Amino acid sequence: MFVCLCNGITESQIRAAASTGISTLEELTDRLGVASQCGQCGAMAQAVLEESGALAVPEDRFYAAVRPG
Ligand code: FES
Repeated sequence: MFVCLCNGITESQIRAAASTGISTLEELTDRLGVASQCGQCGAMAQAVLEESGALAVPEDRFYAAVRPG
């Protein structure tokens, strides 16, 4: 299934990128060009990253969740 029509990027290509360590939408944009034109695919691309288990939790959110008081 195509996720990014502007760049012709498929869900499989995003999953393959995730398996190589890509863990943020920004990295995915740098690697494949996803969300670099109209941007309509950003949310879907991020969802595919999340499903792949590759999406990194932003450091500030992680520490906010575990930091006492
Ligand atoms: S659909 Fe991905 S940038 Fe337009």
